[in-house]
Parts: sequence; C-alpha cells; structure tokens
Amino acid sequence: MANVILVGAQWGDEGKGKIIDVLTEQSEIVVRTAGGNNAGHTVYIGRDKYVLHLIPSGILRPGKVCVIGNGVVLDPIGLVKELDGLDKLGVAVSPANLVISETAHVVFPWHRELDGQREIRKGNNKIGTTKRGIGPTYGDKAARVGLRVIDLVNAAKFPGRLRERLAENNEVLRALGAQPLDYDTLLAEYSRAADRLRPFVANTVVLLHEATRRGANILFEGAQGTFLDIDHGTYPYVTSSSTTAGGACTGSGVPPNRMDSVVGVLKAYTTRVGEGPLPTENAEISDLLHGMGREFGATTGRARRCGWFDAVATRHAAMVNGIDELAITNVDGLDTVKRIRVCVAYRVDGKEIRHIPNDCEILARCEPVYQEFPGWETPTDAIRRWEDLPANCRHYVLSLGQLTGARLTIVSVGPAREQTMFI
Ligand code: GDP
Ligand code: IMO
Ligand code: MG
Repeated sequence: MANVILVGAQWGDEGKGKIIDVLTEQSEIVVRTAGGNNAGHTVYIGRDKYVLHLIPSGILRPGKVCVIGNGVVLDPIGLVKELDGLDKLGVAVSPANLVISETAHVVFPWHRELDGQREIRKGNNKIGTTKRGIGPTYGDKAARVGLRVIDLVNAAKFPGRLRERLAENNEVLRALGAQPLDYDTLLAEYSRAADRLRPFVANTVVLLHEATRRGANILFEGAQGTFLDIDHGTYPYVTSSSTTAGGACTGSGVPPNRMDSVVGVLKAYTTRVGEGPLPTENAEISDLLHGMGREFGATTGRARRCGWFDAVATRHAAMVNGIDELAITNVDGLDTVKRIRVCVAYRVDGKEIRHIPNDCEILARCEPVYQEFPGWETPTDAIRRWEDLPANCRHYVLSLGQLTGARLTIVSVGPAREQTMFI
C-alpha cells in the first residue's frame, strides 16, 4: 500500500477511525500527525466500541506500530486515561506498539482554562471548541514558549520549567478572573503521568525514516477535517492545526517526496460540530439522523449539525489535499431518503459561484444550488458487495466521486469492518 496520507475531507467526523482501522491491515505503522484529544475516532470490532482520542486507530490491530507524531499536542493526563481505558477493554499497549514523539507539545490545565475563557469572551461569536486547550497549546508552540514531551519526561528539569510557565499563566488567569493553579498539585500530577509515559517516548522522526528505508508501509492518520484546517478551513471557526495533507509531512517529519497517495474520507452527507458556516445545513436530514441515534459527537457528545452533501466544499478539499482516492462512509444513513440533494454551486449576492469563499461572512450567506438524486429506499447495511448495492445508490456515490474530482475506491454502509466495500 506504500505511504498513504488519510485526511478528513469535510468538517471532521467523516468516519476516519473506521477507515483507518480497515486500511491498517495493509500498513505496518500508523502515525497521528496533528490535533490532540479534541479528536474522537470511533472503531467497532464486533459489538465492542472503541473511541480513540490521541492514540492512532491502528492500535486495535495486533502487531502494528502506532506513532504519536511531533505535530500532535498531547495532554498527558488524557493520554494516561486513554491507555487505562484500552487496558480495561483488553487492548495491549506497550512501547512495542506505541511510540510518542519527543517534540510533541504538551497541553496543561491553563491551556484548557484559557480555551474556555476565550470562548466566554467571544459570546455569540464563540467557536464552539472542545475545550481541550488545543488553541492555546498551539498558540504557545508558535510563540515558542511551549513545553514539549522531551521537557515533560526530563525529571531533573521539568519542575523548574513548569514553575516558570505556571508563573506567567497564573498571572494571565488572575487577570481574567479565573482561579490560579497550584504548582505542587500540578507537578505531582504531571510527574506521575511522565513516569507512566517515559518508556513510550522516542525520536519518532528517526524511527519513521528507518522504517521508510526498509520499505515499511506507513499510514498517516489525519484528525479533524479540511474545513477545520488553520489555513484552509472556515477561519476563525477552525481548529489550530494543519489538518490537510501537508500537515502529515510537517507533523511527522516524513517529507512530501516519500508520500505515495492521499485518501480522502467523506460522509455521504455533511456534518459539523461547533459553530461556523455550513451552507447545506438542513433540519430534515438532521432530524432523520438524530432520530436514528446517529451524529452525536464522539468527544463531547454534542449533537452534530447535519446537512446535504456539499460538492463545492469537497471539490476544494480534493484540491488542497491532492486527494487521489475517496472513501465514502455512512451511505446507509440515506437509506430512507426519497430524494437526495447535493450542493453543486452556491448563490450569493445574485451570482452563482463554484468555489468556497474565503470570507466566512460571505460563506454564511451562500445559498446552495442543489442537484437532486433519486433515493434507493432500501436498507444497505447488510450488503457486502458493490454490485449488490441498489443502482440508485451506486449512481449516487459514484456521482459524489465525480463531483469531488477523485476516484471512489471505498464505500462504507455501517460502522463495522465487514460493512466496507472496495471498488
Ligand atoms: P472520525 O472522527 O472521522 O473517526 O469519525 P467519528 O468516529 O467521530 O464519527 C463517525 C461515526 O460514524 C462513528 O460513530 C462511526 O462508528 C460511524 N460510522 C463510520 N462509518 C459508518 C458507516 O458507513 N455507517 C454507519 N452507520 N456508521 C458509520
Ligand atoms: P475528529 O478527528 C469534528 C471542532 C470543534 C470546534 C473546532 C475547534 O474526530 O474528526 P478545538 O477544540 O479543536 O479548538 O475546536 O473544531 N473539532 C472537531 N469537529 N471532529 C473533530 O475531530 C474535531 N476536532 C475539533 O467542534 O468547532
Ligand atoms: Mg470524530
């Protein structure tokens, strides 16, 4: 399979976790390259449900090596909880199958507090973040004041570094009217987590290059989605990392000329959790999916906003990510819909446009121009072969590929591994 970058091509929650789990079968190594525990990747194995936040979704396949790359922001307390959770579910995680980058930046409680405080101050313009401290941690990284995993696991130097960073951040917290944090409590908590994580920490850039030289297949696990990208998303309603394909290189240290292909994951419709424009948002499809108990966030439990498939957006995603192949998930979510709509252009200020405008206020005013497709009105979740899908269903998903401008190779009709078809 060579080196494959997998990205979310919409607003996150496209079903990346499921597709990563499926593709991991053909990879030796799976690397997370961006984001933090704002992500929630769901994988079902039989009836067992696993939700991964920081650990790559490849961890559920024995014998695979999972790497948390340098582009990730890592909450050590959250990661220890996730390790304990996997242990309870009987998933063996050790330094043999999980390696953490020395240069990933560390999330502290002041980052989470600042995340929440900024949201309160934004009022109606809030982003709707996951409040995991993601923005402030990447902010510190860019401002060159962040602490990295290498600092966390250095027992001799960490206390001093923590004291320094806490002093500044407590000043900020006090100025904002928030509770300052206690040094001793934090030191004890973070030192405990550091002791637990130390055996997993390594120079992952060297590890990945050695693997590349011996011809190992590496899967680069994207988190979030294209329109949450700090550069290419619907700014400021985005996350703070590079969620597009380029982020896989900077977030791992593996250069572009070692990458072989890009897989884009899409839902057969659109969802978004959090604030910001969503041109195809639609109450009918929202009610339908929520009524089926679907589309509630894997990290925060919030109801996801739902809408029709937006091909203007996915065409843009194919462009900025260089998507070669598409995996379309949740096709079964549309099984009962009589007439399915797909947005093929936007109408704004009396003009029809075929690209996503950079100004979020203009995007918020865009009216979708829809093309209608006849539904198949048949359950698809038990179907296992592409040829057996209803003709209208095949026509619909192939059209999504054509409108997006990439080759459709994977179709998913349910959360389980077996509910996956290769074309
Ligand atoms: P991720 O963040 O991209 O990994 O996606 P999430 O796990 O947050 O959300 C995707 C949801 O869709 C999860 O509940 C998956 O179990 C579920 N899922 C993925 N593919 C399919 C599918 O083809 N059909 C159905 N019914 N559920 C799916
Ligand atoms: P996965 O990997 C969907 C959204 C938040 C919010 C915005 C900023 O599961 O697809 P942040 O906490 O990152 O500062 O929040 O980004 N967001 C996601 N939405 N899926 C995700 O991850 C997300 N990670 C962040 O809801 O709108
Ligand atoms: Mg998710």
